[in-house]
Amino acid sequence: MVVSNRLPYAVERNGADITVRQSSGGLVSAVKSYFEKPGAGGPQFEQKIWVGSVDTSREDWQEAVERGALPADTVIEPVFPDRETYDQYYNGFANGTIWPLFHYFPSITQFRKEHFTAYEKVNALFAERILELYQPGDVIWVHDYQLMLLPQMLREHLPDASIGFFLHIPFPSYELFRLLPTPWKGALLRGLLGADLLGFHTYDYVQHFLQSAKMILKVETQFNNIQYESRMIRTDLFPIGIDYQKFRDALLNDLAARISTSLEQKFMGQKIIFSVDRLDYTKGLSYRLEGFQAFLEKYPQWREKVVFIFNIVPSRAEIRSYADMRHRIEQQVSKINGKFSSLHWQPLIYRYNHLDFEELCALYQSADAALITPLRDGMNLVAKEYVASCLDKGVLILSELTGAASEMGEAVLVNPTDAEEVAEAIHTALTMPLTEQRNRLSLMQRRLAHYDVHHWINDFLESLGTLKTVQEKEQAN
Ligand code: G6P
Repeated sequence: MVVSNRLPYAVERNGADITVRQSSGGLVSAVKSYFEKPGAGGPQFEQKIWVGSVDTSREDWQEAVERGALPADTVIEPVFPDRETYDQYYNGFANGTIWPLFHYFPSITQFRKEHFTAYEKVNALFAERILELYQPGDVIWVHDYQLMLLPQMLREHLPDASIGFFLHIPFPSYELFRLLPTPWKGALLRGLLGADLLGFHTYDYVQHFLQSAKMILKVETQFNNIQYESRMIRTDLFPIGIDYQKFRDALLNDLAARISTSLEQKFMGQKIIFSVDRLDYTKGLSYRLEGFQAFLEKYPQWREKVVFIFNIVPSRAEIRSYADMRHRIEQQVSKINGKFSSLHWQPLIYRYNHLDFEELCALYQSADAALITPLRDGMNLVAKEYVASCLDKGVLILSELTGAASEMGEAVLVNPTDAEEVAEAIHTALTMPLTEQRNRLSLMQRRLAHYDVHHWINDFLESLGTLKTVQEKEQAN
């Protein structure tokens, strides 16, 4: 059982119509690959189920199922929290407390008791559903910060179950984590320690977690292991990969090729810079635009010879900090276009929309450089997808504050808050000799092909399996 808040499809009602949309974000694309490629090695299971929450009504979901509007490729078991509880759990505690705090934005972090109560309620609702579905021998893999209490809730009823947890966002340093009120921080840590195996993207996140567990719960640790309530829990590093082959295959996709050719014709004689992100304050979008503006100012010779295709995917629009940001970004885009455009050229092409897979791949394939500069990111899969999609050109400009930076040393690494440095990096990227571009790409591509998402999934599940066998042997002795 794979468990995450977000499911791969969202159902929306528009009057009498029901529409189904693919969800976006790193978690969904990784877990989806697991369901799409059943025979990709690693532990095999008779059945795979994806348990997740749905923020439409039970009736709308049921109607979508009956109409056959949901793709049949994944067995989905939805959980239906009521509207108000869901709002306080999702917009409140998950995205108003944990998300900003874990991404080092304490000043916009909210600390509201009713949000934490709703978070507990929704985690308990997930536990209830999983306990109904659970069969002895099942493996339960819980994903991400929305469900940090769930492993312990399950453990209370299933002392012998195999439970894994993976955190897709950074685990912050103890100094940040300790800002949470004492009962909450204890509950979150104890919640996580219900799992047998806890996975993180980077070594730093593992160390931060261990430090918080030691300081707050006073647990004993031995290397990466934690002794807790007579169980040994392992924490480890599993840097998430992408479905590398899917992006390589897309180089032969007819529709992507047609879109890519038309882009190249339209922007003939110009270099294309590309970025795509969910609209999120962690992504450093405003600093990124400042960096691009600094580049146009410092290197006027590039004017009319470069275009920045800047895509924003709508996200969490009900949260004030997100809605405000959209407004600010749009003003900044118009200012830059107003200042630098000529009658025949506009430096920024801004889009606020979801992208289809083929369109996304065409943009990756055509871009001379990708500008991926979050202020903080657990990993960042866009950086990896871009590199996987490049055939014989392409430079990745990447923020050093992403998890991906620790694996992609051949990118042009930048501090996202330094507009001058970003401007320099763009110039470096656009003037980099093709042989150097290809050398850097091939080194990164080799690594991405090797530790792809299937490898990541198998690695996690195998580690969980081995751990369980060791625990059982120890118990038998
Ligand atoms: C990040 C999180 C995921 C989340 C995704 C999209 O990648 O780690 O858990 O699903 O963003 O955000 P959303 O709030 O739309 O699920």
